[in-house]
Amino acid sequence: MYSHIHVYTSPVTTWRVRSVFTPDRSNKMDVPWSLSARFVGSFAYFTIKDRLPQILTKVIDTVHRNKHKFLEEYGEEGVEAEKRALSFFSKLRNEMQTDKDVLPLTDSQPDAQLWNQYLNYQNTLLNDGEQPSWFKSPWLYVECYMYRRIHEGLVLSPPICEFDVFEEAKNASFFESQQAILALCAHLQELNKSIAGLSANQLREELFKLLQVSLWANKCDLSISAGQDNAQRFSILSSLEALKPFILVDNMDSVWTVLSTSTLRRTGKDSRSRVDIVLDNAGFELVTDFVLADALLSSKLATEVHFHGKCLPWFVSDTTKQDFNWTIGQLRGANHKCMSKCGSTWQEYLQQESWVYHEHLFWTLPHEFCHMAQAAPDLYSEMQKSDLVIFKGDLNYRKLTGDRKWDFTVPFSQALTTFQPAPLCSLRTLKADVQVGLKPGVGENLTASEPDWMTSGKYGVVQFSASL
Ligand code: F6P
Ligand code: MG
Repeated sequence: MYSHIHVYTSPVTTWRVRSVFTPDRSNKMDVPWSLSARFVGSFAYFTIKDRLPQILTKVIDTVHRNKHKFLEEYGEEGVEAEKRALSFFSKLRNEMQTDKDVLPLTDSQPDAQLWNQYLNYQNTLLNDGEQPSWFKSPWLYVECYMYRRIHEGLVLSPPICEFDVFEEAKNASFFESQQAILALCAHLQELNKSIAGLSANQLREELFKLLQVSLWANKCDLSISAGQDNAQRFSILSSLEALKPFILVDNMDSVWTVLSTSTLRRTGKDSRSRVDIVLDNAGFELVTDFVLADALLSSKLATEVHFHGKCLPWFVSDTTKQDFNWTIGQLRGANHKCMSKCGSTWQEYLQQESWVYHEHLFWTLPHEFCHMAQAAPDLYSEMQKSDLVIFKGDLNYRKLTGDRKWDFTVPFSQALTTFQPAPLCSLRTLKADVQVGLKPGVGENLTASEPDWMTSGKYGVVQFSASL
């Protein structure tokens, strides 16, 4: 089934990706349709028709505005590269807007072959004579593909290959959230002073607060706002009670049970308990994830936290290794003591390896997570070492559930199909029209009263699954 395995080494970790992806059809389950722009009027349709072209227009604008920087850094070669990238992006926007076929990638990046094999696989899902195209294919696939094509446009435009077209927006959103970040860092410093003496109930309440902060911070992504400023300007902590009614599934108790049980289980021999956080957006959301990770260590609910970030600029605001390090660096250098203390402590955690940053190509492939065991077995084994994997954000939820038209009441564990490497929890605000695990009638009532409830980011879930 697989022709050979590539092994790549990065300073962070060693990872591999199977070079050929063939979904296992022997164990096929009945699953609903993928969301797609072929459903005219759906959010997927609106995204491909309007939102993604808007994001591409911003990309074009950003590259153009940086022309002088390229000139300074690389001379005339930089200006030529800028022109090449701009014409690539304009052509890409036109392909999307006129529903052209999905084209194979032409660069020689390590994942190009995987993408092209996935295109062949998409081909097998269509009727004879049909080709995967922007509006006909699954939304999840083509939306991921757009970000990979942006990467291709830069890779094919040396010497500006490494330019992160979303970096300015990500950094600006961090600065715009300064007040909220400061309040959160101050809260953490206060909490850490007393955390060792808290009763189990008190600790549970504190953990729930930080889970909710990390949940609501997911409103701040720059993809839903098509790259427009979407920063958190005030402290979320004081709004948690008011936001509670908007949590449609609240499995925080299960999260507490799994963490407190793994803490009790720790003995001299098995003295570790590990939480993994599959990161989403840089900026305020990333800081809330750091704060949660810090409290997990200082409360001893975990002895190590593993973060998973993206290898490429992705969905505008997703965290790359550069964003991860930049954020800690900004906090360390901040004028305010609470913030600089947080930054220094987090840097130490990384040095001591009680915090570990991982990157893996799988996170920037278009696959649903139920394909992980087959397409990236090394990553799946890594996840299996965890006591709890927290998946942040909307895109991860879409990949967990396969981005399909599930009934609202289908259990979360069923929508995960075969994906359950460890107990897992999704912290996600709803920004795409897929939702499972609701009580009967809830989805229908919301649809009647607030037609955009699944895409507005107003609602959230803390959804847990321990087994299939
Ligand atoms: O563009 C669609 C989308 O996938 C939405 O579902 C969501 O708004 C955004 O992009 C990504 O959201 P998140 O950063 O929470 O994964
Ligand atoms: Mg995101």
